[in-house]
Amino acid sequence: MFNEDFPWDAFDSEWYHSLNYATLRDDDHDILTIVRDFFTEAHAQDRPERAWSGLDVGTGANLYPALSMLPFCRRIRLHEFSASNVSWLEREIGGGFRPSWDPFWAALCEREPYAAVADPRARLREVAEVCQDSVFTLSDGAETGPRDVFNGLAVRTWDVGTMFFGAESMTTDFVEFKLAVGRFMHSLRPGAPFAAAFMRDSKGYTVGDVDFPAVAIKEQDVAECLEGLASRVEVQVTGLEATLRAGYGGMIVATGRAADGRAGWR
Ligand SMILES: C[S@@+](CC[C@H](N)C(=O)[O-])C[C@H]1O[C@@H](n2cnc3c(N)ncnc32)[C@H](O)[C@@H]1O
Repeated sequence: MFNEDFPWDAFDSEWYHSLNYATLRDDDHDILTIVRDFFTEAHAQDRPERAWSGLDVGTGANLYPALSMLPFCRRIRLHEFSASNVSWLEREIGGGFRPSWDPFWAALCEREPYAAVADPRARLREVAEVCQDSVFTLSDGAETGPRDVFNGLAVRTWDVGTMFFGAESMTTDFVEFKLAVGRFMHSLRPGAPFAAAFMRDSKGYTVGDVDFPAVAIKEQDVAECLEGLASRVEVQVTGLEATLRAGYGGMIVATGRAADGRAGWR
């Protein structure tokens, strides 16, 4: 089944947040540490003249990818397809995020750029833009990016990007999974640092009483699908004991830099 076959607007954001992010789990802590160190070092290497524009695709009810980009960004677009998740994000960020995110932020604050952010709730409210849109029609909103002539997708626009548990958890179709990764990667400017997390070997998942899809990928699939799309790629696995729920085999995190080519575009 394909992405369009699932009732994304019926995604119960509060239920999903309670299961996944009410506390900071060891696997998320590992991923947070990897991404924190990677973005801190990428930013120190690049020394950009002005703060980055960040993109998080398929944000759902998870703020930690956006928090991992927070010190480096003047804007962060939260690009989410589901109406319920969009409303949840607007409330969560507009009201000042709930205390359950504090341990996530504390883990990030072990590195200096994060610790220097005085008020992460106010900063996220200031820089976050929640947009209801699909990864398959990714556009830059401000209409400023160079555009693909076939589908209107703004390409090579964003300076830093995250996509967590998105591409493999929005379809059962391997080709569509690869297309989602391709669209995400092509929205980043060449050389942009990115971090992408994936459920490993997932058979699909339930949110409340609604079933959602997955493609059962492994770390080799992630590495292969990033070939030609990214350079300096590192793929790591964590949480192999898989204690979150039934029907998956750990978590995968990939970091690297966006490439300049058009491989994997369609
Ligand atoms: C498993 S959840 C992951 C949520 C969150 N990023 C996390 O780390 O927990 C998959 C997310 O992908 C979103 N999604 C589904 N189809 C999408 C599409 N075509 N474009 C963008 N996001 C989509 C869902 O609404 C949901 O928020």
